[in-house]
Amino acid sequence: MPPLPNCDGRAITTIEGLEHDGRLHPLQQAFLDCGAMQCGYCTAGMIMSGVSLLERNHTPSSEEAKRALEGNVCRCGTYPRILAAVHIASETMKGGRP
Ligand code: FES
Repeated sequence: MPPLPNCDGRAITTIEGLEHDGRLHPLQQAFLDCGAMQCGYCTAGMIMSGVSLLERNHTPSSEEAKRALEGNVCRCGTYPRILAAVHIASETMKGGRP
């Protein structure tokens, strides 16, 4: 993700912009399905980092997912569920976003 001053004139997607036609992004849905959020403090950053990863790499390994999510700290310790959600979204997105 580029530093904010480098975003001048570029499109920026927020977590609210991931939903299309009333359907959550597969990673948002996987977070719900996996119970990957508790307090929700880290959730937007985790999901946006995960979506960025899945756009670049449709089948990330666990190590690649961990690296992509670095810098997002989950105080509730839901990392295993977050990684499971990334894996499930990856499977869901095979062949194109549903
Ligand atoms: Fe609470 Fe991640 S769900 S900080």
